[in-house]
Amino acid sequence: MENEAVVMGGDPLGWLSGGFGIDLGTANTVVCHPHRGIVLDEPSVMLVAGDHRRPVVVGRQARELIGRTAAGMVAVRPLRDGVITDLESARTFIVAILRRVTRKPWERVRPRAVIGIPAGATALERRALAEAADEAGFGHVTLIPEPIAGALGCGLDPLAPRAHMVVDVGGGTAEVTGFCYGGILTTRSCRVAGDEMTLALHQYLRQEHQLLVGELTAEEVKVRVRDEADGSLVVEGRDAATGRPKLITLRAEEVVEAIRPTSDGIVQILAACLDDLPPQAVGDIMRDGVLAFGGGSLLKGFTQLLEDAFGFPLRVAERPLTCVAEGAARCLLRPEVARAYSE
Ligand SMILES: Nc1ncnc2c1ncn2[C@@H]1O[C@H](COP(=O)(O)OP(=O)(O)OP(=O)(O)O)[C@@H](O)[C@H]1O
Ligand SMILES: [Mg+2]
Repeated sequence: MENEAVVMGGDPLGWLSGGFGIDLGTANTVVCHPHRGIVLDEPSVMLVAGDHRRPVVVGRQARELIGRTAAGMVAVRPLRDGVITDLESARTFIVAILRRVTRKPWERVRPRAVIGIPAGATALERRALAEAADEAGFGHVTLIPEPIAGALGCGLDPLAPRAHMVVDVGGGTAEVTGFCYGGILTTRSCRVAGDEMTLALHQYLRQEHQLLVGELTAEEVKVRVRDEADGSLVVEGRDAATGRPKLITLRAEEVVEAIRPTSDGIVQILAACLDDLPPQAVGDIMRDGVLAFGGGSLLKGFTQLLEDAFGFPLRVAERPLTCVAEGAARCLLRPEVARAYSE
């Protein structure tokens, strides 16, 4: 993707607005600089080795090496369901990220950071993230709910006196949030999202086509199905019975069907969120529609599924994988947004 400066205007050289907007996701980590645009977009995984769990490779390279490394190297994912599970590995990962996104040594001197956190995260989970980032070398860390950052990154104003609803379908969690005028009206999440869809497709291939594929192939099929013009694609794997190489043709409708249980879960939390809202807010959302982002919103048939279920328009963000980091970077110049939503 082209690097695109997120914030222009008042501070073109970036003297006032140093720092980074960070989306530390279960599947991907994205870092955005308010003037340089996206400076990092890589899988949230690292390979560590030795007793001290020293990181050997981080990000894309680490992901490609999974399942191909010598003994002694372990793949670590520092986040699960959008939150930190192990402080130590999260800190190591953030240190590696900081090194990658800074070009000069002085840029590494405690830069500011606005970091996205799921709206449904607990106080303990918030503290863990702030602490890990602080210990990794960031100074002045601000946390912002990811739905708010994503909305801001898509050009909505979270401080406007009008209700909005967003759906974020990530790797580990799907979250639906309604907000208005600096306050969250409702938020619900389910811990099944993109990665669960991959798993469902993996199982479907084995059960319905007797085809064994790796997890990376299953994910690739899920992503590729969107671009296939004739609605079907060829998948390579091994025959479950004989172990021999095998090719099958998979129809797009089969993919949609295989992941229906996951998408049904998202329909349910969206319905529950709408029930929570005051009537005036529902009116706003009926008129403006719902904004969707996160990698899972790119899934073929996803928009149609939600529109059919609710009858209001659904808009998928222009850059659904990076808008949370872009919005977090914008918060560096609009600190009032993070302030309003951090209470
Ligand atoms: N074109 C696509 N079609 C379907 N799914 C996709 C597509 N592109 C990416 N994904 C899926 O999106 C998910 C990753 O999305 P994203 O980067 O928004 O998650 P994350 O922010 O890291 O996770 P979380 O928000 O749960 O912490 C993965 O499960 C990936 O397979
Ligand atoms: Mg996310």
